[in-house]
Amino acid sequence: MVNWTKEQEAAIYTAGKDILVAAAAGSGKTAVLVERIIQKLTNQEQPVDIDELLVVTFSNAAAQEMSSRVGAALEKALSENPSSMHLKKQLSLLQKASISTLHSFCLDIVRQHAYMLDIDPGFRILDNIEADLLKQEVMDDLLEDWYGGEGVNQESFFAVVDRFSSDRNDMDVVELVDALYVFSIQNPWPDQWLDRLTDVYKVPQNWQETDLPWLDSVKDMIAEELDGLEQEINLAMETAKEPDGPYLYMDALEQDKQMVEQAKQLTAWDDLQTFFPLANLQGYPVKKCRNATKIKRKK
Ligand SMILES: Nc1ncnc2c1ncn2[C@@H]1O[C@H](COP(=O)(O)OP(=O)(O)OP(=O)(O)O)[C@@H](O)[C@H]1O
Ligand SMILES: [Mg+2]
Repeated sequence: MVNWTKEQEAAIYTAGKDILVAAAAGSGKTAVLVERIIQKLTNQEQPVDIDELLVVTFSNAAAQEMSSRVGAALEKALSENPSSMHLKKQLSLLQKASISTLHSFCLDIVRQHAYMLDIDPGFRILDNIEADLLKQEVMDDLLEDWYGGEGVNQESFFAVVDRFSSDRNDMDVVELVDALYVFSIQNPWPDQWLDRLTDVYKVPQNWQETDLPWLDSVKDMIAEELDGLEQEINLAMETAKEPDGPYLYMDALEQDKQMVEQAKQLTAWDDLQTFFPLANLQGYPVKKCRNATKIKRKK
């Protein structure tokens, strides 16, 4: 008899709502899930049959592990209660229970309902290489159409190519389109998700900072840059202070540091926008420090 922890018990017995269990590797997630299944099968008031449950995993190995652990738990329960017809039935149903990967479950559904989807019931899943080749082909055709086409959207297409490709080729655009595709199909409604992407770039008249959700990300990036700059200035100051250091740079470094500190105080977008075009890093004195020359020569 396992002594389940309080959290494990909650994960086993909580019913009537969705639950999400996240726990460290090897901490007993599968054990808890197996026990949750066993408890449902052996529930006195509402015993269920194993083929009424849907258990999906990500890998084949996990599905096999799940199935064999449920089998072992059923055997154990049966050895404690050898006359239970219900348990015997569960063991015999185990083979046709839906304990599989998410993919093979979906494949079964599609195959069973192929007639509704108007596809050949003898379809098969492309392997990764075939799928990549097909995707490549579609991408080539698509780009060829766009490069050769004419129309209102053509301008936009070339703007995208100009902005996102390198001088040499358009591989970056291909990768961008591919990344957008891959990301979009992780969403339940990929087309809507793609359509919505442009909404965030629509800047309303008399906009408020809160209207533009991406401003926060830009501000975070600026803050990160400023932190990095400050660290470098601090490092440079340490070096300048060393006995052999380029002490003449100290004034300029002090001023740069002040500038960075000032910038870090700013939070409103308007303030940031006014500040940066006017803010300059100091020029460092051309007149060589006596010691700096020495350092150079040492290298
Ligand atoms: N409360 C407990 N008391 C004693 N043993 C436990 C307890 N909870 C889990 N175990 C044991 O710990 C071991 C690891 O459990 P399990 O395989 O379920 O972990 P997991 O979280 O699924 O691991 P992984 O991250 O590798 O999938 C198993 O032998 C299981 O029986
Ligand atoms: Mg596990």
